[in-house]
Amino acid sequence: MIDKQPELRPAVVVVGGSRGIGRAIANVAAGEGAIVVLVARSQEGLAAAASDVRAAGGEAFVLPLDLLAADASTRLQDFLAANGLACEVLVNSAGYGLRGAATTLPIADQLGMVDLNIRALTDMTLHFLPGMVARGRGGVLNLGSIAGFTPGPNMALYYASKAFVRSFSEALHQEVASTGVTVTCVAPGPVSTEFLEKSGAGRAALFKILPKLGSDYVAERAWRGFKSGRRLVVPGLSAKLVAFVASSLPSAIKVPLIGRLQRRSGDLCPCGSGKTFKECCGSRRARRGAA
Ligand SMILES: NC(=O)c1ccc[n+]([C@@H]2O[C@H](COP(=O)([O-])OP(=O)(O)OC[C@H]3O[C@@H](n4cnc5c(N)ncnc54)[C@H](OP(=O)(O)O)[C@@H]3O)[C@@H](O)[C@H]2O)c1
Repeated sequence: MIDKQPELRPAVVVVGGSRGIGRAIANVAAGEGAIVVLVARSQEGLAAAASDVRAAGGEAFVLPLDLLAADASTRLQDFLAANGLACEVLVNSAGYGLRGAATTLPIADQLGMVDLNIRALTDMTLHFLPGMVARGRGGVLNLGSIAGFTPGPNMALYYASKAFVRSFSEALHQEVASTGVTVTCVAPGPVSTEFLEKSGAGRAALFKILPKLGSDYVAERAWRGFKSGRRLVVPGLSAKLVAFVASSLPSAIKVPLIGRLQRRSGDLCPCGSGKTFKECCGSRRARRGAA
């Protein structure tokens, strides 16, 4: 007699689900009764997020995992298999940013951003998308940003990483269009989470000018857009306006402007002098010399 394989139960896997936007998306999915697998490093954050998921009506599993580990996607795959789950929806929400000139920020921290925002997101997507296509349902929801619409001096690598997320996700959306699977990029403006404080972005003039949205609002818009098969979701009117302006303005105008709005006078000078920008290349004397 042939053993019948037990049916795998479909799960929403939220990578970066211990706090912020990922945690809010997990709650929206849980409100629909989903099985949610929360993945992040902090055990405490995961436990709190899991109790939210249960309170919202979902079933919760947690996997403490550092996505920078080379075998992260395999370990997630093994965890799902051991619990009789299939990744029906993958939410890639883990990511971080760093503000400052690229020549002054630690190289390891900048490469870590490439590793998390680009490599880990790509690894997870490539790992789970083929299974979704084979089953003919589900999809991937990738967290981009309005930063993905333009180069961003003084946060150069973060903006570049989000341009990658948007380009990759939009192209995949097209590739799987006829398979019953969807890939959506959600590109929010500033959202009130720990991200703004940790990245230093919250202290830059640009982020002070732009209105901040709540993570619950962003999550609800992202989930709704994903469920309706949208290629790109930009939550909120102000973010839509910024994305439009950022896509339309010539680089000669927008890039220096963003650079100025993301620099603080106390930042280290990009010239490598070790002085602050204000004391060095940003001083009146230096500006007079350049004129
Ligand atoms: N907040 C904003 O203003 C904003 C705007 C646009 C786009 N975004 C994007 O939205 C996404 C989520 O941002 P957020 O605001 O929710 O940030 P957040 O509050 O800092 O949450 C980041 C999540 O990623 C997880 N994470 C970070 N490093 C990890 C690692 N090495 N391994 C596993 N998990 C890791 C964190 O959990 P642990 O620390 O427990 O591991 C946490 O769950 C990011 O991609 C961000 O770029 C944010």
